Amino acid sequence: MSNEKNNSGATRKVTVKAFRFNAETDYLPYYKTYEMEVGKDELILDLLNRIKWEHDGSFSYRRSCRHGICGACGIKVNGKPVLSCKQNAQELVELFGDELVFEPQSKKRAVKDMIIDKGDFWEKHAAVKPYVEAEVDPHPESETIMTPEQVENFLDADYCIQCGACHYACPVIEVNEDYLGPAAFAAAYRFTVDPRDEATIDRLETTAELGSGVWDCVKCFECAEACPKDVNPIEKITKLHNLQFEHHVAERNVATKHAEGFVRSIKKFGYLDEQDIVLYSEGLGVVKHLSEAFKMIKAGKVHPFDFQKKKMPRSKNLEEIQKLIEISKTHEL
Ligand code: SF4
Ligand code: SF4
Ligand code: FES
Repeated sequence: MSNEKNNSGATRKVTVKAFRFNAETDYLPYYKTYEMEVGKDELILDLLNRIKWEHDGSFSYRRSCRHGICGACGIKVNGKPVLSCKQNAQELVELFGDELVFEPQSKKRAVKDMIIDKGDFWEKHAAVKPYVEAEVDPHPESETIMTPEQVENFLDADYCIQCGACHYACPVIEVNEDYLGPAAFAAAYRFTVDPRDEATIDRLETTAELGSGVWDCVKCFECAEACPKDVNPIEKITKLHNLQFEHHVAERNVATKHAEGFVRSIKKFGYLDEQDIVLYSEGLGVVKHLSEAFKMIKAGKVHPFDFQKKKMPRSKNLEEIQKLIEISKTHEL
């Protein structure tokens, strides 16, 4: 009967390799294999349930709402962050073939099977004050009115369900334990632009710090790719950069000067002047890049004695580019 279903395309034979680990009893994690027929409407959460209900009652994972609201059921399938209750299983079979590997969002934080210790996520989220901070009149005469534009400004950030998918997909989180991470930044942005909030400077200062703040983002876009609610954290990070300049919170350091140098170069040539941006942002610190500089000179990418910048190409659309920079500029860098 299952073959009949197979031929009709309704089900697919799938091998699920699930990460297993119990921090209380296991020294190392291991993978256990489960063979199953997967229906076209089944979700990854259905497969997690089937492992538990049909194969091994001790298999552990988090789930609650089953409607993509509570953020509890995030795992990784073949390395891809998914919300189990939202992700169709056959879609992933199409993408990865008939072997699906289920792993927790972060293997090094595993407590039991798919369950991880999300302590770092919550601590970092709390650090940006993810709430409206304001003097509240206990007896208001009317509600606070917001314009549709003001609401629109933070609406997509408000859809965050704190699932942690972006946080545990972020490569900086893996190597820098101080980095606050994309979800915390999305929350920081959401409350900073809320017209009722009075903690703007405080939050912008928290997110401006080198090492932990937005300037340590490497702009890989993994967070945008991972987010099941289209919050687009990298976009909020860019908006926080701008807000820090607007509110004069951005300090002059290598990161902010890099941003300035980028605009300066594009405005001048319509292209990135790689030589100038390094000199401008690093100053005397540029000496530590000498070996790279020699390689770039050899490759013809930089011209150290071209003081007039004659060898630097100019975009034929330079005027248009300059106008666009003026229009999009909200502040002086
Ligand atoms: S874009 Fe930035 S915040 Fe997002 S995953 Fe990459 S490094 Fe992390
Ligand atoms: S921004 Fe998206 S991926 Fe990150 S915690 Fe919120 S909902 Fe999850
Ligand atoms: S069970 Fe709540 S988001 Fe999946």
